[in-house]
This record gives sequence, C-alpha cells and structure tokens, in this order.
Amino acid sequence: MTQTDREQMRAYFDDYASAEWDRLERDISGRVSLEVHRQFLRRFVQAGDRVLEIGAGPGRFTQELIELGATIAVTDFSPIQLELNRQRHADSPSVESWEILDVCDTSKYSDGEFDAVVVYGGPLSYVFEDVDEALKGLFRIVRPGGVVVASVMSLLGTWRHLREEALMMPEIFGDEANDAILRTGDLRFIGGPHICQMYRATEVTRLVDRCGGEVLAMSASNWASLEKQDSLVSLETNPERWKRFLEHEVEFCGEPGALDGGTHLLFAARSVSVN
Ligand SMILES: C[S@@+](CC[C@H](N)C(=O)[O-])C[C@H]1O[C@@H](n2cnc3c(N)ncnc32)[C@H](O)[C@@H]1O
Repeated sequence: MTQTDREQMRAYFDDYASAEWDRLERDISGRVSLEVHRQFLRRFVQAGDRVLEIGAGPGRFTQELIELGATIAVTDFSPIQLELNRQRHADSPSVESWEILDVCDTSKYSDGEFDAVVVYGGPLSYVFEDVDEALKGLFRIVRPGGVVVASVMSLLGTWRHLREEALMMPEIFGDEANDAILRTGDLRFIGGPHICQMYRATEVTRLVDRCGGEVLAMSASNWASLEKQDSLVSLETNPERWKRFLEHEVEFCGEPGALDGGTHLLFAARSVSVN
C-alpha cells in the first residue's frame, strides 16, 4: 500500500466524520449488521478483558465493549474519527486511552498485552498487500488463547448486493478492470475515493493460516436482510417477531453456505504459534 493510498483513506474517513455512526442505524440492513457484529463480539469478549480496538470510528463497538465490561484502548488512524469517539465516551471509566494508530504498526505494544483485539468495519480491508504484516502484528499482541475479532469487506456478497452498479462497471471502466476486480477483490483497479480489498471466505482462511493463526468462527453480515428490505419494515415493528428474525439471521449468517453472502465477512482467530 502506498503512502498516497493511506493518506487518501485517512482523508476519506476524516471527511466521513459522524456519518460513520449512522451507517449501522439508518436502514434495516445496517441495524441487522450491527446486531450480527454485536452478537459475534459477545462470543469472544468477556467482562474484565483488556481490549485494543483498532479503527474504532465514532464508537458503536466501543459502546458495546463498555457494556460487555471490557477495558478498552481505543484507536483509529483518523484524528477526526478518534475525536468523535472521545466526545461520545469521555465519561466512561472503561476507556483507558484514545490514540492514533495504524493497524499496520502495532509495534508499540508488548507481546500478549491484550486479551482481544477488535478490528471491525474494515481496517484490514484498507491495507491491501500490508495485511499479512498487520495481522501477524495483531497475533503478537494478544495473549496466548486471546482472539483477534475482525470484519472485512466481502467480494461476492457486495457484488450481488450492488449488482445494478456492478453491471455498469465494464461500461464505465472497461472489461479488463471489471474482470480484475472480480478476480482479485482489489478496488484500486478502478480507483475512486473509497478503495478497499474485498475478500472471499476462503481467502480469509488462507490469510489467517499464512499469518500463523487459526479461524475460530466466521460469519457473513448479513444474509437474508440485504435485499427487499421493504418486506422487513412491518416485521421490525413487532418486537417479538423481530427478535426471532434476528436470532435466525445471526445463526444463518454463520452457516458455511452463507459466509460469502453478505457485504462484510466477520472472523475470529487466534495464533497457533503461541497457543
Ligand atoms: C467503516 S469504519 C468502522 C468503524 C467502527 N469500527 C465500526 O465498525 O463501526 C472504518 C474505520 O477504520 C479506520 N481505518 C481505516 N484504515 C485504517 C488503518 N489502516 N488503521 C487504523 N484505522 C483505520 C477509519 O478511520 C474508520 O474509522
């Protein structure tokens, strides 16, 4: 990843500012995604854990980690996102610090210093060929038996979900660029303000293996709630039925056949070299 790409993404998230908070609230699929990420986190973070949160943004999951009873070191590489997080959670004794951090450089932390590292919402998708070094660094700073919990962008699910726009890409950018994106998941082939690496589930498993880890669990986000959201509007107003729907959705998102079906792919992994 070039320094220019890095600066471009930092500027993107500085500009995005508080819109990031709304991403997981403004429509049904966002609210389901929030629930899927939340439930996944609850499986791997316990009360009393010391957690490093990377790319925390304004703090949707900082809030969740506080509620889980963790102590959190909050970080982001965007000063604006970090400041929004600080403003929201300044009163919480559970947040021990707010610091600028690039997921590619965790060298300032000691081996095994955290019980868990949380990297939700794609920081690992924004570092392209530096992802191996980044993930190895995360495995180094979790204690033996500790976990890295992350989400990255999904290639197949995003392609299906954004099919109308995706089908226009050959027209706009040419067939070569379109084929290259579908082959590699790398959005730099067309450029634009939001460039990222999209993954297949098998590629996430290979990434974790290469970095000396093992995947403990994976999940799509989302499965049945990305398309035809109108049909879910009345369901969401019925608390009992909505609760049941979410339970089914969260469970189905974890099925092997569903993993590539969402816009995001969640994974929890631990290092096998130190466990
Ligand atoms: C889509 S937001 C997700 C925010 C939050 N984790 C969530 O899931 O709601 C991605 C965040 O990752 C941060 N980010 C992107 N690239 C990063 C990098 N290389 N290192 C650290 N943070 C990064 C951005 O500044 C932004 O706040």
